Amino acid sequence: MAQQEDVFKKIVSHAKEYGFVFQSSEIYDGLAAVYDYGQNGVEMKNNIKRYWWDAMTLLHENIVGIDSAIFMHPTIWKASGHVDAFNDPLIDNRDSKKRYRADVLIEEDLAKIDDKIEKEVAKAKKRFGESFDEAMFRHTNPRVLDYTKQREELHERFAKAMNDNNLDELRQIIIDREIVCPVSGTKNWTEVRQFNLMFRTEMGSTADGAMTVYLRPETAQGIFVNYLNVQKTGRMRIPFGIAQIGKAFRNEIVARQFIFRMREFEQMEMQFFVRPGQELEWFEYWKQWRLRWHKALGLGDSKYRYHDHDKLAHYANAATDIEFEMPFGFKEVEGIHSRTNFDLSQHEKYSGKNIKYFDPELNESYTPYVIETSIGVDRMFLSVLCSSYEEQKLEGGDTRVVLHLPAALSPVKCAVMPLVKKDGLPEKAQEIVNDLKFDFATRYDEKDSIGKRYRRQDAIGTPFCITVDHQTLEDSTVTLRERDSMEQTRVNIADLHKLIHDKVSLTTLLRKLA
Ligand code: GAP
Repeated sequence: MAQQEDVFKKIVSHAKEYGFVFQSSEIYDGLAAVYDYGQNGVEMKNNIKRYWWDAMTLLHENIVGIDSAIFMHPTIWKASGHVDAFNDPLIDNRDSKKRYRADVLIEEDLAKIDDKIEKEVAKAKKRFGESFDEAMFRHTNPRVLDYTKQREELHERFAKAMNDNNLDELRQIIIDREIVCPVSGTKNWTEVRQFNLMFRTEMGSTADGAMTVYLRPETAQGIFVNYLNVQKTGRMRIPFGIAQIGKAFRNEIVARQFIFRMREFEQMEMQFFVRPGQELEWFEYWKQWRLRWHKALGLGDSKYRYHDHDKLAHYANAATDIEFEMPFGFKEVEGIHSRTNFDLSQHEKYSGKNIKYFDPELNESYTPYVIETSIGVDRMFLSVLCSSYEEQKLEGGDTRVVLHLPAALSPVKCAVMPLVKKDGLPEKAQEIVNDLKFDFATRYDEKDSIGKRYRRQDAIGTPFCITVDHQTLEDSTVTLRERDSMEQTRVNIADLHKLIHDKVSLTTLLRKLA
């Protein structure tokens, strides 16, 4: 675990050193849980967004996009339940004066029991070698059985307390489990209180009677309140979807782990409107399809798992997370929710408007049911970055840091380098840049030794380096170096475009989903 934490620290400093992610307002000592994307980060982030957008809107004829405003009428947040119920249960430690989410403290305690079980299994595996029957061991070993029972009891108690919104019981679990503050090491806890996560601001001057408005905590509501506009103007028929990418804001109290939990972040959300009664079929469809979207990137199938929700929001009838194995454990990257007709019914009630859909096939009007897929751009970015980072030992004792980014997501697709800064090589290299730059993010680099230049590109995940040497001037060939294998092949300049395109284009990636 400590080793994984070290790797994570290295990834965070790498992200800064190579222009991916900076702390916001750094020269003013930073603003907690707010980050800026640098020159390489913004390109990679845009590529992630493009992959999602095209996968949703190009590959599904019945999905269109919108871009709704961040500010919305405040009653929307009353209707959606965010004003009354978008809360985190918080607890303070009186000695360290640190504030924690009570549910997170208990989840971490559950994870500790899981670790103990896994340690017992790993020990036994080592002891028994080839002949080890893991399933049998898990079912019969007294220690594992004891931990498993403890876990189940705790989990059940925790889920019930969360479902009942029972803050006293959450505190009692923390006391009973003897959970201590990681900073002070004491059990001197306050009561648990609810804390609303929405940021508020004022719209209009006070003289005119200012209105309290909220920075949206999710983009989804912008889709719900526009669904009929889109349906009518786009002549959409159920089932159909509306996709949106945009900023969301949450006043997270426990903001940790770099860009994993931020106060300002970006979401890619899609609401899929279906006939009542068909929502669970569509939920299953989207659950499978979204996982395929993730796996097509080739980051490793074993890095993903589903996590079905124990605590369903009162309006949901199914919900699952797609979790990704980060250096700090499996964590939620995306949520897929069957939200019934809750949101649309609420907006109908609070607005007083009829927003029912008329189904021409059934010749009747109804409030559609909704399946939502909701993924954080920043969490997706973090999962790609973490799983791509490698400190590689090379033959001869050298090391290189390389980002094995999926080529379609790399900020730079190819770098063109003259071997030396004379004899007409820079001019030839520039000529190649001027040709490739229309289709690929291309960099020109002539500074430092060729080895150093390759390392710089490896560190930002550039799939190809093209080197122009004296032979280029004679026969119009260059060397094409591939990032992961470091293999160099001599190719014709005329073939470069196709060779690069086949590997880096988004189309190649999207075709895997067809
Ligand atoms: N409309 C549903 C919704 O917002 P959510 O599970 O609260 O659901 C969806 O959020 C996704 O948004 C999460 O899976 C995560 O990727 C991302 N997300 C949520 N809170 C975040 C935060 N504070 N920082 C970064 N990403 C966040």
